[in-house]
Amino acid sequence: MTQIIPPAAPEKKQRILSGIQPSGTPTLGNYIGAMRNWKLLEDQYDCLYMIADLHSITVRQEPAKLRAQSIQMLALLLAIGLDPEKNVLFFQSHVPEHAEMSWLLNCYTYMGEMNRMTQFKDKSAKHADNINCGLFTYPILMAGDILLYQANLVPVGHDQTQHLEICRDIAARFNSLYPNVFTIPEGYYSKVGARVMSLQEPTRKMSKSDPEDCYIAILDTPDVIRRKYRRAVTDSDSEIRFDPENKPGVSNLLSILCALTGSSMDDIVSTLSGKGYGDLKNAVTDATIEVLSPIQERFNQYMADKAYLESVYRQGAERASRLANRTLSKAMKKIGFIPR
Ligand code: TYM
Repeated sequence: MTQIIPPAAPEKKQRILSGIQPSGTPTLGNYIGAMRNWKLLEDQYDCLYMIADLHSITVRQEPAKLRAQSIQMLALLLAIGLDPEKNVLFFQSHVPEHAEMSWLLNCYTYMGEMNRMTQFKDKSAKHADNINCGLFTYPILMAGDILLYQANLVPVGHDQTQHLEICRDIAARFNSLYPNVFTIPEGYYSKVGARVMSLQEPTRKMSKSDPEDCYIAILDTPDVIRRKYRRAVTDSDSEIRFDPENKPGVSNLLSILCALTGSSMDDIVSTLSGKGYGDLKNAVTDATIEVLSPIQERFNQYMADKAYLESVYRQGAERASRLANRTLSKAMKKIGFIPR
């Protein structure tokens, strides 16, 4: 008699959670450092991507602008190719478990830990007139975002490393008090481009809160992209060489070119050897326009279909909430609350 061998149970996919704030059009730094990895990971992992609108109110937002930017961000996530069937796409504020989990975790995090957060120091210097408690406890909300979904992996840029570490610390502390509640997540960083630098001050990260000439926005037109790169800071010698310490401006342009074309740094540097900075700037301009143009085209198509966008975010919130609720209920039960 032939023995029937049952098909191997499909291996459970690992879970991914990441997020982006809807505070302005994302930059090329957001795209290279985080968003394009999200697309690359969608088949291998069980992915949730969140528009972190609760995080964005730690600095003042104009209500109409916040609404517009939130919808645009969703259209952009679709435009970079994220399939809403494979990925759960949602607004953080539509899943109330985030705010609830944040309160619980607030009570398991120490002031001393929050005092060490460099982003709080930077942001409170930038917004000295509005140093609110949310800005201070921001990393706790973010820890909750990740832990609610039992995420194994969190694809982010290098500027989020400290937040991820505190998330792991909070999770480990909670698990040592109440065993087996949270999965301890790992960061996932791009090999190239996990820290795209400002075009004007290449020792600082590219950020949408800096003046316009410092960053390329994903929705910039070809003319604007060309102009911004033309004005990008390089240096006074003329050698094209990857040397972030001594040639931060040139090295940043080379890294962007590498990340966008997928070529190795050695190949890029040897192709450009003997050429001038103008040639490097033309090459990075062309590569940027080639990557961003199709995204912009799809973005416009999605923006013209508000009903579709609404169906995506409604369904996303339902799917996310179901998962988040499981973890929240478990954590609350372990703490000693009477189940609802
Ligand atoms: P946000 O909105 O500032 O940025 C979104 C993602 O883009 C990355 N990034 C960069 N990567 C490389 N070079 C740059 N210049 C650059 N600028 C931004 C960021 O590292 C990030 O991955 N706190 C998060 C949002 C968030 C989140 C989460 C992320 C909220 N909850 C849970 C992961 C998991 C933030 O403000 O990202």
